[in-house]
Amino acid sequence: MSGQGTSRRTDLTTLLAQAGEGNPVELNGWVKTARFSKNISFVHVFDGSSTATVQIILSAEQAEAFKGHLGIGTAVAIKGSWKASPGGRQAFEVAADEIVIVGESDASEYPIQRKKTSMEFLRTVAHLRPRTNTFQSVFRVRNALSWHIHRFFQERGFQWVHTPIITASDAEGAGEMFQVKATGSEEEFFGKPAFLTVSGQLAVENFAQAFTNVYTFGPTFRAENSHTGRHASEFWMIEPEIAFATLDDVIALAEAFVKEVSLATLEQCADDFEFFNTRIDKGWVDQVRASLAKPFARVTHAEAQEILVASGKKFEYPVGPGQELQTEHERYLAEEHFEGPVFVTDYPASQKAFYMRLNDDGETVGATDLLVPRIGELIGGSAREERLDVLDARISALGLEVEDYWWYRDLRKFGTTPHGGFGLGFERLIMWLTGMTNIRDVIPFPRTPGSAEF
Ligand code: 4AD
Ligand code: MG
Repeated sequence: MSGQGTSRRTDLTTLLAQAGEGNPVELNGWVKTARFSKNISFVHVFDGSSTATVQIILSAEQAEAFKGHLGIGTAVAIKGSWKASPGGRQAFEVAADEIVIVGESDASEYPIQRKKTSMEFLRTVAHLRPRTNTFQSVFRVRNALSWHIHRFFQERGFQWVHTPIITASDAEGAGEMFQVKATGSEEEFFGKPAFLTVSGQLAVENFAQAFTNVYTFGPTFRAENSHTGRHASEFWMIEPEIAFATLDDVIALAEAFVKEVSLATLEQCADDFEFFNTRIDKGWVDQVRASLAKPFARVTHAEAQEILVASGKKFEYPVGPGQELQTEHERYLAEEHFEGPVFVTDYPASQKAFYMRLNDDGETVGATDLLVPRIGELIGGSAREERLDVLDARISALGLEVEDYWWYRDLRKFGTTPHGGFGLGFERLIMWLTGMTNIRDVIPFPRTPGSAEF
Protein backbone atom coordinates (compact mmCIF):
# COMPACT_ATOMS: atom_id res chain seq x y z
CA MET A 1 0.00 0.00 0.00
CA SER A 2 1.37 3.42 -0.80
CA GLY A 3 0.34 6.88 -1.74
CA GLN A 4 0.83 10.60 -1.71
CA GLY A 5 2.65 11.61 1.46
CA THR A 6 1.65 14.49 3.67
CA SER A 7 4.49 16.48 2.10
CA ARG A 8 4.59 17.22 -1.62
CA ARG A 9 6.58 14.01 -2.06
CA THR A 10 5.05 10.97 -3.70
CA ASP A 11 6.44 7.63 -2.61
CA LEU A 12 8.48 5.39 -4.90
CA THR A 13 5.85 2.68 -5.17
CA THR A 14 3.27 5.14 -6.44
CA LEU A 15 5.77 6.79 -8.78
CA LEU A 16 6.76 3.41 -10.22
CA ALA A 17 3.13 2.47 -10.80
CA GLN A 18 2.63 5.72 -12.73
CA ALA A 19 5.86 5.51 -14.72
CA GLY A 20 5.70 6.16 -18.47
CA GLU A 21 8.36 6.56 -21.12
CA GLY A 22 9.82 10.04 -21.09
CA ASN A 23 7.68 11.32 -18.22
CA PRO A 24 9.44 13.57 -15.71
CA VAL A 25 9.90 12.29 -12.18
CA GLU A 26 11.14 13.63 -8.83
CA LEU A 27 11.98 11.22 -6.07
CA ASN A 28 13.61 10.96 -2.66
CA GLY A 29 15.10 8.07 -0.81
CA TRP A 30 18.21 6.35 0.47
CA VAL A 31 20.84 4.58 -1.59
CA LYS A 32 20.72 0.82 -1.22
CA THR A 33 23.45 -0.08 -3.69
CA ALA A 34 25.64 1.85 -6.08
CA ARG A 35 27.70 0.65 -8.99
CA PHE A 36 30.21 2.73 -10.85
CA SER A 37 31.89 1.26 -13.92
CA LYS A 38 33.25 2.41 -17.23
CA ASN A 39 30.20 1.45 -19.23
CA ILE A 40 27.38 2.15 -16.87
CA SER A 41 26.83 3.64 -13.43
CA PHE A 42 23.67 3.40 -11.42
CA VAL A 43 22.30 3.54 -7.91
CA HIS A 44 19.29 1.79 -6.41
CA VAL A 45 17.13 3.96 -4.18
CA PHE A 46 14.44 2.87 -1.71
CA ASP A 47 12.07 4.78 0.55
CA GLY A 48 10.32 2.06 2.59
CA SER A 49 6.96 2.28 0.82
CA SER A 50 7.31 -1.28 -0.49
CA THR A 51 9.98 -3.77 -1.55
CA ALA A 52 10.43 -1.61 -4.66
CA THR A 53 13.69 0.11 -5.46
CA VAL A 54 14.19 2.55 -8.31
CA GLN A 55 17.21 2.23 -10.53
CA ILE A 56 18.80 5.60 -11.29
CA ILE A 57 21.11 5.74 -14.30
CA LEU A 58 23.94 8.27 -14.12
CA SER A 59 25.56 9.91 -17.13
CA ALA A 60 29.33 9.59 -17.50
CA GLU A 61 29.76 13.14 -16.14
CA GLN A 62 27.46 12.47 -13.18
CA ALA A 63 29.33 9.28 -12.43
CA GLU A 64 32.58 11.20 -12.41
CA ALA A 65 31.15 13.90 -10.13
CA PHE A 66 29.34 11.61 -7.66
CA LYS A 67 31.71 8.67 -7.46
CA GLY A 68 32.51 8.14 -3.80
CA HIS A 69 29.50 10.19 -2.68
CA LEU A 70 26.60 7.81 -3.24
CA GLY A 71 27.47 5.11 -0.76
CA ILE A 72 24.92 2.94 1.00
CA GLY A 73 22.66 5.00 3.24
CA THR A 74 23.09 8.32 1.43
CA ALA A 75 19.87 10.35 1.35
CA VAL A 76 19.21 11.69 -2.14
CA ALA A 77 16.76 13.83 -4.09
CA ILE A 78 16.65 13.01 -7.79
CA LYS A 79 15.06 14.72 -10.77
CA GLY A 80 14.95 12.97 -14.11
CA SER A 81 12.73 11.09 -16.51
CA TRP A 82 11.46 7.53 -16.84
CA LYS A 83 13.01 5.28 -19.43
CA ALA A 84 12.12 1.71 -20.32
CA SER A 85 14.71 -0.44 -18.59
CA PRO A 86 16.64 -2.79 -20.86
CA GLY A 87 17.74 -5.04 -18.00
CA GLY A 88 14.36 -6.65 -17.49
CA ARG A 89 14.63 -6.59 -13.68
CA GLN A 90 12.37 -3.55 -13.65
CA ALA A 91 10.05 -2.11 -16.28
CA PHE A 92 11.33 1.44 -15.89
CA GLU A 93 14.42 3.19 -14.63
CA VAL A 94 15.23 6.86 -14.19
CA ALA A 95 17.69 8.81 -16.26
CA ALA A 96 18.89 11.43 -13.79
CA ASP A 97 19.00 15.12 -14.74
CA GLU A 98 19.73 16.36 -11.26
CA ILE A 99 21.15 14.57 -8.23
CA VAL A 100 21.14 16.30 -4.84
CA ILE A 101 22.85 14.72 -1.85
CA VAL A 102 20.49 15.49 1.04
CA GLY A 103 22.51 13.64 3.66
CA GLU A 104 25.92 12.07 3.14
CA SER A 105 26.82 8.57 4.23
CA ASP A 106 30.36 7.24 4.24
CA ALA A 107 30.05 3.72 2.85
CA SER A 108 33.32 2.61 4.45
CA GLU A 109 32.02 3.53 7.90
CA TYR A 110 28.43 2.41 7.43
CA PRO A 111 27.77 0.03 10.34
CA ILE A 112 25.98 -2.60 8.25
CA GLN A 113 28.49 -4.06 5.82
CA ARG A 114 27.77 -6.79 3.29
CA LYS A 115 29.23 -9.69 5.22
CA LYS A 116 27.99 -8.67 8.68
CA THR A 117 24.29 -9.29 8.42
CA SER A 118 23.43 -11.96 10.99
CA MET A 119 20.27 -11.27 12.97
CA GLU A 120 22.38 -11.14 16.14
CA PHE A 121 24.65 -8.49 14.72
CA LEU A 122 21.77 -6.45 13.33
CA ARG A 123 20.26 -6.24 16.84
CA THR A 124 23.33 -4.27 17.87
CA VAL A 125 22.51 -1.69 15.19
CA ALA A 126 18.78 -1.54 15.76
CA HIS A 127 18.80 2.13 14.69
CA LEU A 128 19.87 1.17 11.16
CA ARG A 129 18.48 -2.33 10.67
CA PRO A 130 15.09 -0.91 9.52
CA ARG A 131 16.89 -0.05 6.28
CA THR A 132 17.72 -3.67 5.47
CA ASN A 133 15.48 -5.82 3.26
CA THR A 134 14.49 -8.17 6.07
CA PHE A 135 13.49 -5.47 8.51
CA GLN A 136 11.80 -3.38 5.85
CA SER A 137 9.51 -6.36 5.27
CA VAL A 138 9.10 -7.20 8.96
CA PHE A 139 7.99 -3.72 9.89
CA ARG A 140 5.70 -3.26 6.91
CA VAL A 141 4.00 -6.51 7.94
CA ARG A 142 3.81 -5.31 11.54
CA ASN A 143 2.16 -2.10 10.38
CA ALA A 144 -0.32 -3.82 8.05
CA LEU A 145 -1.26 -6.37 10.69
CA SER A 146 -2.01 -3.59 13.19
CA TRP A 147 -4.26 -1.93 10.70
CA HIS A 148 -6.20 -5.12 9.90
CA ILE A 149 -6.56 -5.90 13.60
CA HIS A 150 -8.26 -2.58 14.24
CA ARG A 151 -10.31 -2.98 11.09
CA PHE A 152 -11.46 -6.47 12.11
CA PHE A 153 -12.84 -5.21 15.42
CA GLN A 154 -14.15 -1.87 14.20
CA GLU A 155 -16.14 -3.57 11.42
CA ARG A 156 -17.78 -5.76 14.05
CA GLY A 157 -18.72 -2.95 16.41
CA PHE A 158 -16.04 -3.59 19.05
CA GLN A 159 -14.98 -0.51 21.03
CA TRP A 160 -11.24 0.03 21.39
CA VAL A 161 -10.48 0.70 25.06
CA HIS A 162 -7.22 2.34 26.16
CA THR A 163 -6.60 0.41 29.33
CA PRO A 164 -3.96 1.82 31.69
CA ILE A 165 -0.28 0.99 31.43
CA ILE A 166 0.36 1.86 35.07
CA THR A 167 -1.73 -0.34 37.34
CA ALA A 168 -1.98 -1.48 40.94
CA SER A 169 -3.24 -4.98 40.15
CA ASP A 170 -1.52 -8.10 38.92
CA ALA A 171 -3.93 -9.23 36.22
CA GLU A 172 -2.36 -12.66 35.89
CA GLY A 173 -1.58 -13.13 39.57
CA ALA A 174 1.86 -14.42 38.58
CA GLY A 175 3.94 -11.73 40.29
CA GLU A 176 5.97 -10.94 37.17
CA MET A 177 5.64 -7.17 37.25
CA PHE A 178 7.92 -4.17 36.93
CA GLN A 179 7.36 -1.67 39.70
CA VAL A 180 6.82 2.02 38.90
CA LYS A 181 8.42 4.62 41.17
CA ALA A 182 9.30 8.29 40.84
CA THR A 183 13.05 8.75 40.59
CA GLY A 184 14.76 10.22 43.65
CA SER A 185 11.92 9.33 46.00
CA GLU A 186 11.24 6.38 48.22
CA GLU A 187 7.59 7.31 48.65
CA GLU A 188 4.90 5.50 46.70
CA PHE A 189 3.96 8.02 44.05
CA PHE A 190 0.46 6.56 43.69
CA GLY A 191 -0.05 6.03 47.40
CA LYS A 192 0.47 2.31 47.01
CA PRO A 193 2.73 0.06 44.96
CA ALA A 194 2.17 0.52 41.23
CA PHE A 195 3.36 -1.55 38.30
CA LEU A 196 3.52 -1.74 34.53
CA THR A 197 0.56 -3.79 33.37
CA VAL A 198 0.98 -7.44 32.37
CA SER A 199 -2.43 -7.43 30.65
CA GLY A 200 -5.30 -5.03 30.04
CA GLN A 201 -7.83 -7.76 30.71
CA LEU A 202 -9.20 -6.86 34.13
CA ALA A 203 -9.67 -3.25 33.09
CA VAL A 204 -11.22 -4.14 29.76
CA GLU A 205 -13.68 -6.48 31.47
CA ASN A 206 -15.17 -3.39 33.11
CA PHE A 207 -15.83 -1.94 29.69
CA ALA A 208 -17.22 -5.21 28.31
CA GLN A 209 -19.86 -4.95 31.04
CA ALA A 210 -20.77 -1.53 29.66
CA PHE A 211 -20.20 -1.76 25.90
CA THR A 212 -20.68 -5.54 25.34
CA ASN A 213 -17.89 -6.00 22.77
CA VAL A 214 -14.53 -4.35 23.41
CA TYR A 215 -10.80 -4.81 22.84
CA THR A 216 -7.42 -3.50 23.90
CA PHE A 217 -4.37 -3.29 21.68
CA GLY A 218 -1.29 -1.96 23.39
CA PRO A 219 1.99 -2.66 25.14
CA THR A 220 2.25 -5.02 28.10
CA PHE A 221 5.22 -5.78 30.32
CA ARG A 222 6.50 -8.91 32.02
CA ALA A 223 9.41 -9.24 34.39
CA GLU A 224 9.83 -12.94 33.68
CA ASN A 225 13.42 -14.01 33.34
CA SER A 226 12.77 -16.09 30.21
CA HIS A 227 15.65 -16.20 27.77
CA THR A 228 13.83 -17.63 24.78
CA GLY A 229 13.15 -16.44 21.28
CA ARG A 230 9.47 -16.09 22.16
CA HIS A 231 9.56 -13.94 25.29
CA ALA A 232 10.08 -10.20 25.51
CA SER A 233 9.88 -7.95 28.57
CA GLU A 234 7.80 -5.49 26.57
CA PHE A 235 5.40 -6.82 23.96
CA TRP A 236 2.07 -5.89 22.45
CA MET A 237 -1.13 -7.74 23.14
CA ILE A 238 -4.58 -7.73 21.58
CA GLU A 239 -7.30 -8.55 24.09
CA PRO A 240 -10.94 -8.70 22.98
CA GLU A 241 -13.58 -9.19 25.66
CA ILE A 242 -17.21 -10.11 24.96
CA ALA A 243 -20.22 -10.06 27.27
CA PHE A 244 -23.11 -12.57 27.17
CA ALA A 245 -20.66 -15.10 25.78
CA THR A 246 -19.39 -18.62 26.40
CA LEU A 247 -16.01 -20.26 25.83
CA ASP A 248 -17.29 -21.49 22.45
CA ASP A 249 -17.98 -17.88 21.46
CA VAL A 250 -14.46 -16.90 22.51
CA ILE A 251 -12.94 -19.71 20.45
CA ALA A 252 -15.05 -18.85 17.40
CA LEU A 253 -13.95 -15.22 17.68
CA ALA A 254 -10.29 -16.19 18.05
CA GLU A 255 -10.33 -18.40 14.97
CA ALA A 256 -12.13 -15.83 12.81
CA PHE A 257 -9.77 -13.14 14.07
CA VAL A 258 -6.51 -14.99 13.39
CA LYS A 259 -7.67 -16.06 9.96
CA GLU A 260 -9.03 -12.74 8.78
CA VAL A 261 -6.21 -10.49 9.93
CA SER A 262 -3.60 -12.95 8.67
CA LEU A 263 -5.16 -13.37 5.23
CA ALA A 264 -5.65 -9.62 4.82
CA THR A 265 -2.01 -8.97 5.75
CA LEU A 266 -0.74 -11.74 3.46
CA GLU A 267 -2.63 -10.05 0.66
CA GLN A 268 -1.62 -6.48 1.44
CA CYS A 269 2.06 -7.36 1.89
CA ALA A 270 2.27 -9.97 -0.87
CA ASP A 271 5.77 -8.86 -1.95
CA ASP A 272 7.07 -8.93 1.61
CA PHE A 273 5.71 -12.44 2.14
CA GLU A 274 7.26 -13.52 -1.14
CA PHE A 275 10.55 -12.37 0.38
CA PHE A 276 9.96 -14.35 3.59
CA ASN A 277 8.86 -17.42 1.67
CA THR A 278 11.95 -17.45 -0.51
CA ARG A 279 14.71 -15.73 1.47
CA ILE A 280 13.98 -16.21 5.18
CA ASP A 281 12.51 -19.71 5.28
CA LYS A 282 11.74 -21.55 2.07
CA GLY A 283 8.10 -22.56 1.83
CA TRP A 284 7.19 -21.44 5.35
CA VAL A 285 4.57 -18.92 4.26
CA ASP A 286 2.99 -21.61 2.04
CA GLN A 287 2.57 -23.77 5.15
CA VAL A 288 0.97 -20.88 7.03
CA ARG A 289 -1.44 -20.30 4.16
CA ALA A 290 -2.39 -23.99 4.22
CA SER A 291 -3.05 -23.77 7.97
CA LEU A 292 -5.27 -20.75 7.49
CA ALA A 293 -7.33 -22.55 4.85
CA LYS A 294 -8.55 -25.34 7.14
CA PRO A 295 -10.51 -25.40 10.42
CA PHE A 296 -8.34 -25.11 13.54
CA ALA A 297 -8.33 -28.30 15.61
CA ARG A 298 -9.69 -28.47 19.15
CA VAL A 299 -8.89 -30.81 22.06
CA THR A 300 -9.25 -30.75 25.81
CA HIS A 301 -6.20 -30.60 28.02
CA ALA A 302 -6.90 -34.19 29.14
CA GLU A 303 -7.08 -35.39 25.52
CA ALA A 304 -3.90 -33.50 24.70
CA GLN A 305 -2.09 -35.32 27.51
CA GLU A 306 -3.36 -38.66 26.17
CA ILE A 307 -2.02 -37.78 22.74
CA LEU A 308 1.37 -36.91 24.22
CA VAL A 309 1.53 -40.16 26.18
CA ALA A 310 0.46 -42.18 23.13
CA SER A 311 3.07 -40.47 20.96
CA GLY A 312 5.78 -42.46 22.72
CA LYS A 313 8.09 -39.48 22.28
CA LYS A 314 10.78 -38.68 24.82
CA PHE A 315 10.02 -35.28 26.27
CA GLU A 316 12.14 -33.37 28.75
CA TYR A 317 9.11 -32.64 30.97
CA PRO A 318 6.61 -35.29 32.15
CA VAL A 319 3.36 -35.94 30.28
CA GLY A 320 0.16 -37.56 31.52
CA PRO A 321 -3.08 -36.64 33.30
CA GLY A 322 -2.82 -33.27 35.06
CA GLN A 323 0.73 -32.45 33.87
CA GLU A 324 1.57 -28.98 32.60
CA LEU A 325 1.86 -28.36 28.88
CA GLN A 326 5.39 -27.13 28.20
CA THR A 327 6.54 -25.53 24.96
CA GLU A 328 7.98 -28.85 23.72
CA HIS A 329 4.55 -30.46 24.19
CA GLU A 330 2.72 -27.54 22.63
CA ARG A 331 4.97 -27.69 19.60
CA TYR A 332 4.57 -31.44 19.24
CA LEU A 333 0.79 -31.06 19.23
CA ALA A 334 0.73 -28.22 16.69
CA GLU A 335 3.60 -29.34 14.47
CA GLU A 336 3.44 -33.10 14.41
CA HIS A 337 0.09 -34.28 15.67
CA PHE A 338 -2.36 -31.71 14.34
CA GLU A 339 -0.01 -30.19 11.73
CA GLY A 340 -1.55 -26.78 12.28
CA PRO A 341 -3.16 -24.54 14.89
CA VAL A 342 -5.02 -26.27 17.71
CA PHE A 343 -7.15 -24.94 20.56
CA VAL A 344 -6.54 -26.73 23.84
CA THR A 345 -9.38 -26.26 26.34
CA ASP A 346 -10.34 -27.06 29.91
CA TYR A 347 -7.04 -26.86 31.73
CA PRO A 348 -6.66 -27.98 35.36
CA ALA A 349 -7.75 -25.03 37.50
CA SER A 350 -4.49 -25.16 39.45
CA GLN A 351 -2.51 -24.28 36.30
CA LYS A 352 -4.47 -21.19 35.33
CA ALA A 353 -5.24 -17.66 36.55
CA PHE A 354 -7.85 -16.89 39.22
CA TYR A 355 -10.35 -15.27 36.85
CA MET A 356 -11.01 -18.35 34.69
CA ARG A 357 -14.45 -19.90 34.98
CA LEU A 358 -14.61 -23.11 37.00
CA ASN A 359 -16.19 -25.99 35.06
CA ASP A 360 -18.93 -28.17 36.57
CA ASP A 361 -16.36 -30.89 37.34
CA GLY A 362 -14.87 -28.52 39.91
CA GLU A 363 -11.40 -29.47 38.63
CA THR A 364 -10.91 -27.74 35.32
CA VAL A 365 -11.53 -24.21 34.04
CA GLY A 366 -13.07 -22.92 30.81
CA ALA A 367 -9.72 -21.86 29.44
CA THR A 368 -8.25 -22.08 25.98
CA ASP A 369 -4.79 -21.69 24.52
CA LEU A 370 -4.27 -21.59 20.78
CA LEU A 371 -1.08 -23.44 19.89
CA VAL A 372 0.62 -22.96 16.53
CA PRO A 373 3.62 -24.62 14.89
CA ARG A 374 7.05 -23.30 15.94
CA ILE A 375 5.68 -20.78 18.40
CA GLY A 376 3.62 -22.89 20.78
CA GLU A 377 1.19 -20.60 22.62
CA LEU A 378 -0.12 -17.78 20.44
CA ILE A 379 -3.31 -17.05 22.38
CA GLY A 380 -4.38 -17.48 25.98
CA GLY A 381 -8.03 -16.93 26.81
CA SER A 382 -11.00 -18.10 28.82
CA ALA A 383 -14.54 -17.75 29.97
CA ARG A 384 -14.41 -15.52 33.08
CA GLU A 385 -15.75 -16.50 36.48
CA GLU A 386 -18.94 -14.43 36.67
CA ARG A 387 -20.19 -15.96 39.97
CA LEU A 388 -18.99 -13.87 42.90
CA ASP A 389 -18.82 -16.67 45.46
CA VAL A 390 -16.81 -18.91 43.16
CA LEU A 391 -14.52 -16.03 42.21
CA ASP A 392 -13.83 -15.16 45.84
CA ALA A 393 -13.00 -18.76 46.63
CA ARG A 394 -10.56 -18.89 43.71
CA ILE A 395 -8.86 -15.61 44.66
CA SER A 396 -8.38 -16.80 48.23
CA ALA A 397 -7.27 -20.29 47.20
CA LEU A 398 -4.48 -18.77 45.11
CA GLY A 399 -3.27 -16.68 48.05
CA LEU A 400 -4.41 -13.36 46.64
CA GLU A 401 -6.27 -10.68 48.62
CA VAL A 402 -9.99 -10.45 47.87
CA GLU A 403 -10.02 -6.72 48.84
CA ASP A 404 -7.43 -5.87 46.18
CA TYR A 405 -9.96 -6.86 43.54
CA TRP A 406 -12.91 -4.95 44.98
CA TRP A 407 -13.78 -3.20 41.73
CA TYR A 408 -13.44 -6.41 39.73
CA ARG A 409 -15.76 -8.11 42.24
CA ASP A 410 -18.27 -5.29 41.88
CA LEU A 411 -18.80 -6.32 38.26
CA ARG A 412 -20.11 -9.63 39.61
CA LYS A 413 -22.50 -7.83 41.96
CA PHE A 414 -24.02 -5.35 39.58
CA GLY A 415 -25.35 -6.99 36.44
CA THR A 416 -22.88 -9.82 36.02
CA THR A 417 -22.93 -11.72 32.70
CA PRO A 418 -21.24 -14.82 31.40
CA HIS A 419 -18.35 -13.34 29.42
CA GLY A 420 -14.91 -14.09 28.14
CA GLY A 421 -12.02 -13.08 25.96
CA PHE A 422 -8.48 -13.81 24.98
CA GLY A 423 -5.05 -12.27 24.65
CA LEU A 424 -3.02 -12.69 21.48
CA GLY A 425 0.72 -11.96 21.56
CA PHE A 426 1.15 -9.59 18.63
CA GLU A 427 4.84 -10.37 18.06
CA ARG A 428 4.17 -14.10 18.13
CA LEU A 429 1.61 -13.72 15.36
CA ILE A 430 4.13 -11.78 13.28
CA MET A 431 6.70 -14.53 13.89
CA TRP A 432 4.31 -17.27 12.89
CA LEU A 433 3.27 -15.50 9.68
CA THR A 434 6.75 -14.47 8.55
CA GLY A 435 8.90 -17.35 9.75
CA MET A 436 11.11 -15.00 11.78
CA THR A 437 12.35 -17.12 14.66
CA ASN A 438 13.27 -14.57 17.33
CA ILE A 439 10.88 -12.11 18.94
CA ARG A 440 13.75 -9.59 19.08
CA ASP A 441 13.56 -9.38 15.31
CA VAL A 442 9.90 -8.45 14.95
CA ILE A 443 9.79 -5.55 17.43
CA PRO A 444 11.42 -2.20 16.59
CA PHE A 445 13.52 -1.86 19.74
CA PRO A 446 13.35 -5.10 21.74
CA ARG A 447 13.47 -5.14 25.55
CA THR A 448 14.60 -8.45 27.02
CA PRO A 449 16.37 -9.33 30.27
CA GLY A 450 19.71 -7.53 30.27
CA SER A 451 18.97 -5.52 27.15
CA ALA A 452 17.28 -2.14 26.63
CA GLU A 453 19.70 -0.25 24.33
CA PHE A 454 18.29 2.33 21.88
O1 4AD B 1 -1.55 -16.20 28.25
P1 4AD B 1 -1.38 -14.80 28.72
O2 4AD B 1 -0.52 -14.58 29.92
O3 4AD B 1 -2.86 -14.27 28.95
C1 4AD B 1 -3.20 -13.07 29.46
O4 4AD B 1 -2.44 -12.16 29.76
C2 4AD B 1 -4.70 -12.90 29.54
N1 4AD B 1 -4.98 -11.78 30.47
C3 4AD B 1 -5.24 -12.64 28.16
C4 4AD B 1 -6.74 -12.48 28.15
O5 4AD B 1 -7.45 -13.44 28.32
N2 4AD B 1 -7.21 -11.27 27.90
O6 4AD B 1 -0.80 -13.92 27.55
C5 4AD B 1 -1.49 -13.83 26.32
C6 4AD B 1 -0.54 -14.00 25.15
C7 4AD B 1 0.19 -15.34 25.14
O7 4AD B 1 -0.59 -16.35 24.58
C8 4AD B 1 1.41 -15.01 24.31
O8 4AD B 1 1.11 -15.04 22.92
C9 4AD B 1 1.69 -13.56 24.67
O9 4AD B 1 0.50 -13.03 25.23
N3 4AD B 1 2.77 -13.44 25.64
C10 4AD B 1 4.01 -13.01 25.35
N4 4AD B 1 4.54 -12.57 24.20
C11 4AD B 1 5.81 -12.18 24.23
N5 4AD B 1 6.59 -12.15 25.33
C12 4AD B 1 6.10 -12.56 26.51
N6 4AD B 1 6.86 -12.51 27.60
C13 4AD B 1 4.74 -13.02 26.56
N7 4AD B 1 3.93 -13.48 27.54
C14 4AD B 1 2.75 -13.73 26.96
MG1 MG C 1 -0.90 -18.07 28.71
